[in-house]
Amino acid sequence: MAGDEEPLFSQRPSSEHTNDRDLAEEDALLTGERTGRSAGVRGWKFWREVGLFAWAVIATAAVIVLGVVYQRHQQSDSPQTTFTGKRNLIFMVSDGMGPTSLTLTREYLQNQNNLPWGAQLEIDKHLIGQSRTRSTSSLVTDSAAGATAFSCGIKSYNGAISVLPDHSPCGSVMEAAKKAGYTTGLVVTTRITDATPAVFASHVNMRDEEDLIATQMVGEHPLGHVVDLMLGGGRAHFLPNTVQGSARADDRDITELAKSKGYTYISTREEFDALDHGASLNLPFLGLFADTDIPYEVDRRTQNATYPALHEMATTALRALSAATAHSDHGFFIMIEGSRIDHAGHANDPVAQVHEVLAYDAAISAVLDFIHTESTPTLMLSTSDHETGGLATARQLHPSYPDYAWFPGVLANASKSAERLGQEYHAQLSDTNNNNNDTLKTWLTHALEQDLGIHDHTPTELTTLLTSPATAPYTFADMVSRRAQTGWSTHGHSGADVNIYASDPRAAAPLVGNHENSEVGQFLADFLDVDLAEVTEELREKAVLYTLGWMGRVPGVGERLDGQDHVDHYLGDFRRRGRRCVGGVGG
Ligand SMILES: *[C@@H]1O[C@H](CO)[C@@H](O)[C@H](O)[C@H]1NC(C)=O
Ligand SMILES: *[C@@H]1O[C@H](CO)[C@@H](O)[C@H](O)[C@H]1NC(C)=O
Ligand SMILES: *[C@@H]1O[C@H](CO)[C@@H](O)[C@H](O)[C@H]1NC(C)=O
Ligand SMILES: [Zn+2]
Repeated sequence: MAGDEEPLFSQRPSSEHTNDRDLAEEDALLTGERTGRSAGVRGWKFWREVGLFAWAVIATAAVIVLGVVYQRHQQSDSPQTTFTGKRNLIFMVSDGMGPTSLTLTREYLQNQNNLPWGAQLEIDKHLIGQSRTRSTSSLVTDSAAGATAFSCGIKSYNGAISVLPDHSPCGSVMEAAKKAGYTTGLVVTTRITDATPAVFASHVNMRDEEDLIATQMVGEHPLGHVVDLMLGGGRAHFLPNTVQGSARADDRDITELAKSKGYTYISTREEFDALDHGASLNLPFLGLFADTDIPYEVDRRTQNATYPALHEMATTALRALSAATAHSDHGFFIMIEGSRIDHAGHANDPVAQVHEVLAYDAAISAVLDFIHTESTPTLMLSTSDHETGGLATARQLHPSYPDYAWFPGVLANASKSAERLGQEYHAQLSDTNNNNNDTLKTWLTHALEQDLGIHDHTPTELTTLLTSPATAPYTFADMVSRRAQTGWSTHGHSGADVNIYASDPRAAAPLVGNHENSEVGQFLADFLDVDLAEVTEELREKAVLYTLGWMGRVPGVGERLDGQDHVDHYLGDFRRRGRRCVGGVGG
């Protein structure tokens, strides 16, 4: 620590008698050389100087010893503080998690465990700064532009997957890392073809080109395969459209393509467990455990035999990457995403959100545990691409002035996400023997009490659920939100600044304070000591020889998922309820 070393340099005695002669003497004492002064006639002044100097030497030595002891002590908390040679980088993204998501989850945790108000989440202990998230096309970014700022270190338009506003591809930090000799990984709980993971290993003009993203991610890419290890959901864009669960437009089997390029492919919890926490995982590797998203943690908990948890995938990946790079000059670079905090925000579901943030915090703890045991210096950096939902831990329910309160206990009484309860309600609605109003009312009453902990539902709420089943998930989430007094300002994203966290604030010093999201991307490249401009150039050269249209359709103006016209113009939108930008939902 620079601050702790300072006293070493301010300990030189500053005597009012100091002059050239005294300095010569001091040097003589240090070097053992004799000065030109005759020995023998030494007054009290000389001995006083010697005494002062000896005292200074002892004091300096004491400070050095204390400094070393202190440093040792510090190092036992965070073992790696130097990143000059081989290094690993673990970049964590909490999609859609704003500062209030942390307040919500921290207070929920305290409430549930009877903890004092000083009790923190693990992630709270590592806060270093904030990121400003706007894109080139809007003050409110989407995940694609937000993640492109991380991957390329440059802002782009909403919808862009590592593509610049002029529709040219920008080289990503993962591509640069792979080229430099790092081993690479992606771990998510959503589709691996969703925007945040996609930007690291693919380039398309519009984020919804997930068929193309899947093929690029397994190596049909100008630079060949960029990701060595992928774990998450999203089989839908890898399976041919002849197979159930596929969302591909064509009949290509991208899992077979992956295997032909050397990947091992797995798709079940049993196969995941057989990896023995990463010890039996050989790269390159593709593990997809759901057709689309892995269920919200609040629902996954009861399906643990089918879906692995985020922290389990994270530790498995870290151990595998650590083993794979044990004898390499370069370490690894991995992006781990708490993907569905964002989805819970879109759904305005505080129950789903609290459990997603707790799962992310568990992943942070698992990553920090890994860093303590890893011999290669490893930095963990965590941030969000944006806030989702405009969450508030307070809500005014009536025209009268509100109480200052919100109620975490209400969230604890719910045991399912609104999304899951909505799916069960739809199953009930399609059961033609049991979908008359009376049985539906009985079913809903039981579900509200049993699964959401709501015993005081009103006739109006029941009527809304019966008459508008399509929006039932929103109604369920709203019923919980009102009772907990949690507020939401949108089903989309907001422009709030988001937090930055690091396992070592000294190593992440350039991100201390308030920064643009593109600076996060630049930091990733600088930390890994890789050159983004160089990989961009190589990508563009090789892309010339590549399949025409490899980055997908170039969207027309007004279709670019960015609504160019709302950068800073208000067009009376509040009266036009139907008017909205395309592609706002989904991250
Ligand atoms: C989930 O299953 C894994 C093994 O498949 C097990 O190690 C873990 O303890 C289980 N978690 C819970 C919460 O039961
Ligand atoms: C939670 O449920 C229990 C049991 O039904 C009930 O007694 C309690 O009041 C509920 N708490 C909240 C905050 O709703
Ligand atoms: C079922 O209840 C809803 C809401 O109360 C009502 O609008 C609808 O007409 C009812 N349907 C039947 C068949 O009674
Ligand atoms: Zn996002």
